Amino acid sequence: MTDTTDALTIAPALRLLDWYQSMGVDVALGAEPINWLARGAVKPGADFLMPRTVEVARRAASAPARPADAASARTLRQPAPPPAAPQAERRAAPSIATPTAPPPSVRAFVATAPDAAVAAARKAAAGAATLDALAEALATFDGCGLKATAKNLCFYRGAAHARLMIVGEAPGREDDLAGAPFNGAAGELLEKMLVAIGATSAACHLSNAVYWRPPGNRHPTPHELDVCQPFLERQVALVRPDILLLLGAAAARQVMDTSDGIMRVRGKWRAQEIGGHSVRAIASLAPTYLLKSPLAKQNAWRDFLAIKAALAK
Ligand code: URA
Repeated sequence: MTDTTDALTIAPALRLLDWYQSMGVDVALGAEPINWLARGAVKPGADFLMPRTVEVARRAASAPARPADAASARTLRQPAPPPAAPQAERRAAPSIATPTAPPPSVRAFVATAPDAAVAAARKAAAGAATLDALAEALATFDGCGLKATAKNLCFYRGAAHARLMIVGEAPGREDDLAGAPFNGAAGELLEKMLVAIGATSAACHLSNAVYWRPPGNRHPTPHELDVCQPFLERQVALVRPDILLLLGAAAARQVMDTSDGIMRVRGKWRAQEIGGHSVRAIASLAPTYLLKSPLAKQNAWRDFLAIKAALAK
């Protein structure tokens, strides 16, 4: 079989994977359990690469521009091949067929052991002395599986330092595209609620309990929340808000460390220690929920009035 034939055979498989991903399937589970301890120093994700696919894709993209090759390269979602480089430059290009060095367009599944990922997150977050450094630490952190399917990191929107910090559940589609939290209809509703209590999103610090969009807008898993938690704690310590507003059950449960439902915890102030910073925390309903259940807005309005009163002090 020629490489071109291989590439054409792979194209439908990649389309199927795309479809799975858009349907919210983000983790490939095997029939056999994985003994993480026995893996020793094996690089996370190494087992999940398809070296032959990587090699074929790379060769298809870098081959001289013949019409058939150009077509097969497109089926593999590679960028159009650059104009032919001088021979010496092409020889200097990095070697292509190693499973541990995929080209940028081929993303390995992240398969870091859960505890190791949380420990790595703690270390990365603790070393960040500023919000910019924290953004950099998140951008280079590979321990959260959500990063494999998200388009962009969504760190924060609004003011770097603010009296009111708002933490939602997770970025949605518009946020993922924009690379910032609370865009789209949910962001518009939140903005209206903030304006109604004399604030704006530009004057607040807006973020989420996880920093990448869960595929298909599913809820983040407890592990994804745990992995992002050290970054969130550091973020709170750097922003130093007076008030922390947690929007939705996932953010409330994670930060307040409770298993109670959102209807039970919402609207009640709590003194919260987070990242070594003391803050008054209150939970309310997620704007995505309010868009689907407008009657619940009366509860959210009560919570926002309580925040307005607290900000006035
Ligand atoms: N967009 C966000 O960034 N967070 C939410 O919780 C909802 C929408």
